[in-house]
Amino acid sequence: MKNSLINGYLHYESKAMDILSRIGFLEEYMNDPISARITLFLIAVGTLAFINELYITIEMSFLQKETYRELNKSKLDESLKSHRMLLDDDFHSREILDEKSGIVIEEFEAREKFFAKPVHVAHLYVECDVIRHDNDSSLLSKPLKFHIEFSPEEYEHEKRPEFGCKLSVLRRKLYHFFKETNIYNDLVEDKGDDFQFTVSNNVTIYNRRGEPLPASVDSIQLCFLKIETGDTIKCKFVI
Ligand SMILES: *[C@@H]1O[C@H](CO)[C@@H](O)[C@H](O)[C@H]1NC(C)=O
Ligand SMILES: *[C@@H]1O[C@H](CO)[C@@H](O)[C@H](O)[C@H]1NC(C)=O
Ligand SMILES: *[C@@H]1O[C@H](CO)[C@@H](O)[C@H](O)[C@H]1NC(C)=O
Repeated sequence: MKNSLINGYLHYESKAMDILSRIGFLEEYMNDPISARITLFLIAVGTLAFINELYITIEMSFLQKETYRELNKSKLDESLKSHRMLLDDDFHSREILDEKSGIVIEEFEAREKFFAKPVHVAHLYVECDVIRHDNDSSLLSKPLKFHIEFSPEEYEHEKRPEFGCKLSVLRRKLYHFFKETNIYNDLVEDKGDDFQFTVSNNVTIYNRRGEPLPASVDSIQLCFLKIETGDTIKCKFVI
């Protein structure tokens, strides 16, 4: 029984080595039986490792898709503040003090947890309109376009910096961009002191699905609000 198994193996091994020795760039490794056997072994192990790696990659990308599918369905309100990925420490690495040695050890989250998290938003295109608050009519012939990038200084002090910037950062940036424009200056000149243009009241931002993002979610990171890096989203300056 055992012998026939070994014979069977040797039969297939010699066939495989025969095939490999005919492959140009492998020829020189296949000259003597030992190096041929090692080459065959390495190729077999390498192939298995590759398949395993591929499997993990596919599995992890499914996890992330699932998270985005779930976020896509969620309501845009304060309930997002208690999203498990923001609150649950299992989703984040932490530092543990080893009592005996006094050394601080960093413990990382499980792989599935790491890959399930949404990816922070690095940059966005925003098309902005200026509209009248009483009848929604536009004051522009074509929208103002801003390309907005977020730099690490804008979120590194956050409790969960890996999720990137909060909505409030985007709202403030758009507000300041608008204040620099000639349109804004003309409006102020027309209206004088009556002009009460504020970040929280007069800048309406929409996500990629066109849903308005209320000020109540200003403290939530963009990646939880159905916005992804490179998206083009809309904004209205309401005057
Ligand atoms: C998000 O949900 C909307 C409506 O439910 C659907 O049309 C859209 O395809 C979904 N997007 C993704 C990325 O799942
Ligand atoms: C909106 O109001 C402005 C000023 O009152 C007016 O000029 C404009 O025609 C109005 N637009 C619509 C669609 O009613
Ligand atoms: C800002 O928004 C508020 C509330 O919608 C509105 O009453 C006010 O007129 C707006 N400010 C300007 C300058 O239009």
